[in-house]
Amino acid sequence: MKSPSKGVRYLPNHLSADQQNHLISQIRSITRQAPLYIPRMPKTGKPMSVKMTNCGLLGWVTDKNSGYRYQSFHPLTKKSWPEIPDQLLELWQEIANYPHRPEACLINYYDSDAKMGMHQDRDEQNFDAPVVSISLGDDCMFRIGGVTRGGPTRSLRLQSGDVVILEGEARLAFHGVDKIYPDTSMVLNNAGRINLTLRRVTRPG
Ligand code: SIN
Ligand code: FE2
Repeated sequence: MKSPSKGVRYLPNHLSADQQNHLISQIRSITRQAPLYIPRMPKTGKPMSVKMTNCGLLGWVTDKNSGYRYQSFHPLTKKSWPEIPDQLLELWQEIANYPHRPEACLINYYDSDAKMGMHQDRDEQNFDAPVVSISLGDDCMFRIGGVTRGGPTRSLRLQSGDVVILEGEARLAFHGVDKIYPDTSMVLNNAGRINLTLRRVTRPG
C-alpha cells in the first residue's frame, strides 16, 4: 500500500481486468437508466466539463439555482437513481473500514478534454466514513493537497483499476483532476475515463 499523503490510501491496480470489465458493463446499464448529464456550477450556471450521473439512494447533483446537494432522483428523468451494484458494495465492505453502507455513488465521465478543479467533498452530513474512489479507463493526473485551499499538493497518475481512499486526516483534503491522458487504456475502447466515488451521506442511526 503506497500513501501519497497522510490519510490517503492508494491501492494501485486493485481491480483485476475482469473486475473492471464487469463493473463497466454495470455502469453502462446504469447510464441507460440514468443518463449522463452536464452538471452546472452554483450561481454562475457554468457547465462542468465532466458529465455525471449517480446510483444509490442518494445522488450528488449541482445546478445554477440550488447548488451542490444530494437528492434521491435524477434531475432530468426525475426517476430514482439505480441501485449501487453489489460489486461496489462488496468493495466498500472490503476496504472502507466503516460499518454502514454507502448511500451514494457518483459516476463522473471525463472525455479527453475534461478536468475537475480542486475541491473538498463536504456535502455529506458527517465525515466519519471515507470517500472511496475508483478509476476506470484512461489515465488521469489526480492532484491532492491538504485541508486548506492553496496549500502544497501532490500529483498522482491514476490508472484503470486503481482505488484511492480519502479518510481520516485526508477526508476533507482538497483534490481535483488536472488532465486526462487520452488513449492510455483500452477498457473503455479508448473513450475517456470513468471515476466512481462511493460515499455515506447521512449520519447512521
Ligand atoms: C471527484 O472528486 O469527484 C472525482 C475525482 C476523480 O475523478 O478521480
Ligand atoms: Fe471529489
